[in-house]
Amino acid sequence: MATEDSDLQNDLQSILQQKTPLLPMAELRSFVEHYFSCREKYLRILEKYPPPVYILESDVLKEKVRQFQEAFKRVLPEVSFYYAVKSNNNPEVARILLQWNFGLDVSSGLELKMALNLNADDIVFSGPGKTDLELTLATLHAEQVTVLIDSFSELHRLEAIAASRNKRVRAGVRLTTNPNGLWRKFGILPHTLPAFWKEAGQCPHVMLQGLQFHTSWNLSPEAQIDFIKRLGKLLAKEFNPFRKEIVFIDVGGGYWPPQGEWLQAAGTPAGRIRRALGKGADPGANHYRFPATPIESFADQLGVAIEEHLFKSVSCRICLEPGRWICNDVMHLFISVIDKKAPDLVITDAGTNAIGWERFETDYFPILNLTRPILKERACHILGSLCTPHDVWGYSYWGEDIRPGDILMVPMQGAYTYSLRQNFIKPVPPVIIK
Ligand SMILES: Cc1ncc(COP(=O)(O)O)c(C=O)c1O
Repeated sequence: MATEDSDLQNDLQSILQQKTPLLPMAELRSFVEHYFSCREKYLRILEKYPPPVYILESDVLKEKVRQFQEAFKRVLPEVSFYYAVKSNNNPEVARILLQWNFGLDVSSGLELKMALNLNADDIVFSGPGKTDLELTLATLHAEQVTVLIDSFSELHRLEAIAASRNKRVRAGVRLTTNPNGLWRKFGILPHTLPAFWKEAGQCPHVMLQGLQFHTSWNLSPEAQIDFIKRLGKLLAKEFNPFRKEIVFIDVGGGYWPPQGEWLQAAGTPAGRIRRALGKGADPGANHYRFPATPIESFADQLGVAIEEHLFKSVSCRICLEPGRWICNDVMHLFISVIDKKAPDLVITDAGTNAIGWERFETDYFPILNLTRPILKERACHILGSLCTPHDVWGYSYWGEDIRPGDILMVPMQGAYTYSLRQNFIKPVPPVIIK
């Protein structure tokens, strides 16, 4: 017990001493400068559609698509792209992506219905706990959908449903990347793959053709490469008899946007511990950043790993399921100041129900005062109008001053915010598509 306590103390000490890198001021200033330079364009739109609103920039989306596709097409002989709808489920985002040769990656019947309504002809359906109703919908649209099966029992349910409809369904199987902790809920354990493949051989209505795995929040491709190496070994040895049947390997999503992860002090490892101890409520003036690998380098490194570890055993198409990387930069939120309760405290017309979680208590995003733009950051609590103190936009703004009626921009709120919006107290802001 005494050793456990002292181990814990040592761990805490080392985390508290860890220095999270600061967000370089020059980068932050040029980020803010860029959005201030587009100010007139946004204000013109807001004259017609007053805040709070989201603006979706379709040109930015098209550019993200181009860059992502180009990076991976350079290094992979045969590659397919599937946009992870969950990261931003606005139908317009999916519609634009379909025009640019993306398929859709859906995770529920709801998302599948949206994809079918958009006439998507190449859909992958993944996720644990698919219901019979969801599997039936996928079966009825078997020409458009590939089901990424999550368990042995799901394989048998899919077989029964497909048999009852006299359909044959294309399928893959998801592999668990981490058998410990909460990630074990996804997929089957890799060592059971040969048994799974054999069992699928007894299911005439399921055409098993591929494998899928996914790791999240990858600032670098390390986790993906680690799993590719493990998969390579499996394919070369135990799985050897079946490997000719593999048509695709889907390496999932999880690519972090190039800006890296921007944090408030409370979001750094040391800050999280201080918060848990009830200390360090002061957000401080510093911003922090864990850097991310550029997508071209992600593609290069994954390309090398796939060539070295997978293509030795199989020759197949590679599928990618990016979400966050594609949609993060394409939507911004515009809100306005309703009340100034102190020189350093304002309340806005919208609450963080617009983004669905307490993001800005830990994540940093600059808040730009479009009404009084200057390249100076000033301390001020910018809080929403929900009846909860956890309704925080940030602890500073960029501008000359801040007053009631001012229009504030929270840039780059495209990923895992809009999809998580909640009908809680305040209405959800509409999306204006440009
Ligand atoms: C199976 C699967 N694919 C792709 C994604 C998209 O990940 P990201 O938005 O991080 O690229 C997710 C996200 O949870 C996922 O679960």
